[in-house]
Amino acid sequence: MTKPYEVPTTIRWAADGRRVRILDQTRLPTERLEVDLQTVEEFEEAIQSLRVRGAPLIGITAAMGIGALARQRADEGLDADSAIDAVSRDADRLAAARPTAINLVWAIERVRGILSDGTGSAAELAERLSAEANDILSEDRRMCRAIGEHAAILLQDGDAVITHCNAGSLATGGIGTALAPVYVATESGKRVSVFADETRPLLQGSRLTAWELSQAGIDVTVISDNMAAALFAQHPPDIVFVGSDRIAANGDVANKVGTYGLAVLARHHGVPFYVLAPTSTVDLQTPTGADIPIEHRSADEVRRGFGKLTAPVEVAVWSPAFDVTPHELVTGIVTEAGIHVDPYGPALAEAVRLAADGRTSD
Ligand code: MRU
Repeated sequence: MTKPYEVPTTIRWAADGRRVRILDQTRLPTERLEVDLQTVEEFEEAIQSLRVRGAPLIGITAAMGIGALARQRADEGLDADSAIDAVSRDADRLAAARPTAINLVWAIERVRGILSDGTGSAAELAERLSAEANDILSEDRRMCRAIGEHAAILLQDGDAVITHCNAGSLATGGIGTALAPVYVATESGKRVSVFADETRPLLQGSRLTAWELSQAGIDVTVISDNMAAALFAQHPPDIVFVGSDRIAANGDVANKVGTYGLAVLARHHGVPFYVLAPTSTVDLQTPTGADIPIEHRSADEVRRGFGKLTAPVEVAVWSPAFDVTPHELVTGIVTEAGIHVDPYGPALAEAVRLAADGRTSD
């Protein structure tokens, strides 16, 4: 069936397999520009400056980056042990590029599994690392679709969704997480509209969510973050869909700063609040939201976000990139395994187990 929309390709290999081509998200919505990443510094910079962003996509980028770097080492003629040492150092560096999204660590742990196997030549190692990165990418596509199919039943024809940041196709290798049910519902002929929070300070909502939904022909309206309460009071949306960078074992959810405020508003107005994320975002080693490391970003992203000074030049700024929504405010968490409700602990553990079993039986 031809889809009634198109989603952009966020990442792919360059033809030589030694570089990775990304859609540079810092240039959107004015320019649709692809850039090639080759050195470990370029991969790290692209992740830190949000040229690639969104929890699943930064994991995919790191895994493909390690595949590309391993191929370069093999072409340089390194023996297998030296290639493993060099690539392990690259993996350490990329794992530390951003601290909150557990998908980054999750993808790199899978790559480390290949490194620790340690058999074969440097060229064979590069081959296996690139194949693992491809698996991570295609699994992510499948997880996005499954999340969309599970959550689409939450949408009725004519519903209005509100979302925060961008947890759409631009944040993944597939059709996104929070936006996946919007795409799936659209495929089945339901008319769904979306309110996109602008998402200060880096405007992932207005630059990215509004762009990708407009490209797909889906009805989208941007609000600045401080308009959300007025919207709930005057035209309450039917449902909230957000993504996540890390879900703790008890169901507390870290996502782009501003998500918690949306959850409080949703509870106050009786609007269901759903978190949509693959099991690669679930961190069973982190007991609660209080244990999730929160990235803090540079003051200038707030003081002079896109060039123009909008605050006194040296004024103090507090700029966490993420906040934590306690699980009590979450109506449901949707993973590729289905829709989970409180108590989240056993449901999330089972979803993670099912995903791991699925991989070993492949
Ligand atoms: O700082 P960003 O743009 O990487 O933040 C992204 C988000 O907060 C997303 O909601 C989250 O990573 C989920 S993406 C499917």
